Amino acid sequence: MSEPGDATRTARTQADSIAGLVRHIVAKHHGFARREIGVIKQLFARCEARELAEPETLAAVRRFFEEMADDMLEHLRKEEERLFPVLLSDSPLDDPAKLRDVMAELDLEHEAAGEALIRLQMPLAEAMLPESDGGPLEELRRHLRLIDKDIKDHVNVERNVLFPQVRKAMEPDAG
Ligand SMILES: [Fe+2]
Ligand SMILES: [Fe+2]
Repeated sequence: MSEPGDATRTARTQADSIAGLVRHIVAKHHGFARREIGVIKQLFARCEARELAEPETLAAVRRFFEEMADDMLEHLRKEEERLFPVLLSDSPLDDPAKLRDVMAELDLEHEAAGEALIRLQMPLAEAMLPESDGGPLEELRRHLRLIDKDIKDHVNVERNVLFPQVRKAMEPDAG
């Protein structure tokens, strides 16, 4: 039996690093997004019940948020079903063409998520007024800022760290 060569060792190190990133993303960002979406929906309901802002304004921002949240949950599911199990498997790079396809599809959704955030911040800045010093409205704004920041970090680590690592590992002369 031959000893594993440098190329094999490099491939193993790359695969370990990729798997570690995937676990980090799921534990930190996917978990956070799912929890925050639930919290924010409850806060919208509380603000509506207490009429803490113009009902039409609140309803419009809520509809926008829920649309974004639905897209996001679908995106998380897609990553967890179609990409991450492959990256966590014993032979993650067996089907490079398929991996490239699924990552290209997810990257388009990452771009759309970025645009959605910009659109979300605009109505928030203008329409969630009046300013409130405490209470559910302020909590709502705080949680919207939290999820906004986490989505940006989340998309950044996938687009700029994880995906480039996977693409590099798939190069024929990787390592
Ligand atoms: Fe993700
Ligand atoms: Fe993603």
